[in-house]
Amino acid sequence: MTTVMYSTSKTTVEPGEMKKFQALSQNWWDRNGEFAALHALNDLRVPFIRDTLLTNSEKQQLGCPLHGLRILDIGCGGGLLSEPLGRLGAMVTGIDPLNDNIRTAEMHKSFDPVLQEQVQYAACSLEEMADEATGMFDAVVASEVVEHVGDVEMFIKYAAQVLKPGGSLFITTINKTFLSYILAIVTAEKILRIVPNGTHEWERFINPDDLEKLLVSSGFTVETINGMLYNPLFDSWSWINNAGVNYALHAVKNKIEEQSDFMSETGDRKDNDTYQSEFSVGSTVKL
Ligand SMILES: C[S@@+](CC[C@H](N)C(=O)[O-])C[C@H]1O[C@@H](n2cnc3c(N)ncnc32)[C@H](O)[C@@H]1O
Repeated sequence: MTTVMYSTSKTTVEPGEMKKFQALSQNWWDRNGEFAALHALNDLRVPFIRDTLLTNSEKQQLGCPLHGLRILDIGCGGGLLSEPLGRLGAMVTGIDPLNDNIRTAEMHKSFDPVLQEQVQYAACSLEEMADEATGMFDAVVASEVVEHVGDVEMFIKYAAQVLKPGGSLFITTINKTFLSYILAIVTAEKILRIVPNGTHEWERFINPDDLEKLLVSSGFTVETINGMLYNPLFDSWSWINNAGVNYALHAVKNKIEEQSDFMSETGDRKDNDTYQSEFSVGSTVKL
């Protein structure tokens, strides 16, 4: 049996993508700025994550429905999604390879005492923290991130590594269709200019079938794929029956007995119950 350990000499981080976000790193909390659509997306993605996790949870605490759950928000940017998940009671770790994004996230968090205990941030990539955080999280979120990642297959394998068996992975992203080119790039970036020109590259988009294949080969079962539609006139999102442009996906990491093949690829993992310390990593992104 061959054991393959993923080494951090390879990275999921694309320097070109980091440059784009560097230029916007102060703007995350401008409700009417470049990230307006991400603010609005919270109306769909926060209930989607909350309700899916609650369906699988036995105990619920009134007012803090996600109490007791550890969530990793990969590519958290300025913390737009980490914060509401923390307010729902989850212990959230937000990571982003860009130092300046994490600085903005930390600064914004400092305005709300409730978040001090609930949310922590680290400037690092997923692969940098994966070994120290193996099997640590009940849920992993990558919202509007995989379309900016260099190696999606590697990204998903590391996401599997940091999840507990039976844990949930939530991804929102953009489909690779002609319609997504017209709406997400031509209309949003070049005509309406609600997103900075050049933010998205169509080649990086991924269709749900290809994403599902990568997930299954990393030991996940895909439970849900829902289409989402953004209406720029009303700055609002709705669920639709068509995943042709934007979609949200929920997958569950198979339990130990279901994933012996996957284990042989990712190598040894730590026992969840014996995991004590938080990971600590520094930023590695140089522009
Ligand atoms: C469109 S923003 C989404 C931010 C946040 N998830 C949200 O929805 O509010 C994409 C984020 O992914 C981060 N990112 C890009 N490549 C990444 C990678 N390989 N690993 C982790 N994060 C990455 C960027 O720095 C940026 O903050």
